[in-house]
Amino acid sequence: MCSSYPALNYKIIAKCSTTRARASVLELPHGPVEAPVFMPVGTQASLKGVLPDQLDRMGCQIMLNNTYHLGLKPGKEILDTIGGAHKLQSWKRNLLTDSGGFQMVSLLKLATITEEGVTFLSPRDGTPMLLTPEHSIELQNTIGSDIMMQLDDVVHTLTEDVRMEEAMYRSIRWLDRCLKAHKNTETQNLFCIIQGGLNKRLREICCKEMMKRDTPGIAIGGLSGGEEKRSFCEIVHTCTGILPESKPRYLMGVGYAEDLVVCVALGMDMFDCVYPTRTARFGNALTRNGILNLRNRRFKTDSSPLDTECQCPCCIPKEKGGWGITRAFLSSLVSKETVGAHLMTIHNTQFQLQLMNDMRTSIIKDCFPQFVKDFFIKWHKGDR
Ligand code: GUN
Ligand code: ZN
Repeated sequence: MCSSYPALNYKIIAKCSTTRARASVLELPHGPVEAPVFMPVGTQASLKGVLPDQLDRMGCQIMLNNTYHLGLKPGKEILDTIGGAHKLQSWKRNLLTDSGGFQMVSLLKLATITEEGVTFLSPRDGTPMLLTPEHSIELQNTIGSDIMMQLDDVVHTLTEDVRMEEAMYRSIRWLDRCLKAHKNTETQNLFCIIQGGLNKRLREICCKEMMKRDTPGIAIGGLSGGEEKRSFCEIVHTCTGILPESKPRYLMGVGYAEDLVVCVALGMDMFDCVYPTRTARFGNALTRNGILNLRNRRFKTDSSPLDTECQCPCCIPKEKGGWGITRAFLSSLVSKETVGAHLMTIHNTQFQLQLMNDMRTSIIKDCFPQFVKDFFIKWHKGDR
């Protein structure tokens, strides 16, 4: 199964016979992206505490940046002069940019939404600024991301139906404005974002309307707001039952390991979240045996690596060419030394990339259901 657009060739390599999981490749302007894929988030270009080159060596094929943050700093003129965000951060792989509205609504409590766009007070000097669909696309065209996201009207998952319906229909209208404003269709892909909260009827309408616009890929938004897992899964299941099989499907803002495994089974291909890198800075290591809180006293004298199966330079022993970082060393560094945050971020990012790779391999080998069982047994009962 295959779909082709000027800047994206999407191919499904293998499908699981009992779930909706698929292994696929997105051929993008900056190289192939093997999916299922987790996209680490470099908010202000580049991941906090990690060099783009290190991310590349970890095998990361696509990173996420935020239009809102890049638009503020370094700003459009400088990005225009430099020639985009790939050049700014010396990143040779693919970039995906979120459109900015979600960041404003979630970061700035003072953002207000009208049909025209999202109005917010500049964090620099408090002056009111307006981000419209046209302006978001203009910025993303300047950034030069391989995948750009439409500006959408995002409301909290638990918002009542009338406002939810308004946000869903407005997101469709804003997609039309984004499509019209998009200048670089030959080199950049614009993805739509399905909204509609936890209301299946709204999600169905939105899927069908967005599908008519025939974007190269489709995202599901509005689902990382602390809703119950059951409703979260039902909405993903409803959408993947309607969306075409031949296009990549991106679940926005989701990155807990359990959610990644379940949502791959439900047919999602792409994910992003600040969680793994943020929690690393708080001293939490993600491992196949669950989460380790390095601030716990018992790690102070523990000379083992974070995860013996991990292929990150921290966990590989010195005699095998790695850095041989022990839990004891990390426990003495966390929350005090920046090198602690650096090492933990490398480890957690590698964990996410490896988890996605392992899922992909098991789908190709047709043993994904067994992978899911083994994953959950270790994750919940693992020997830490
Ligand atoms: N990140 C997480 N959820 C969303 C969403 O619904 N919309 C956008 N634009 N970004 C997101
Ligand atoms: Zn590691």
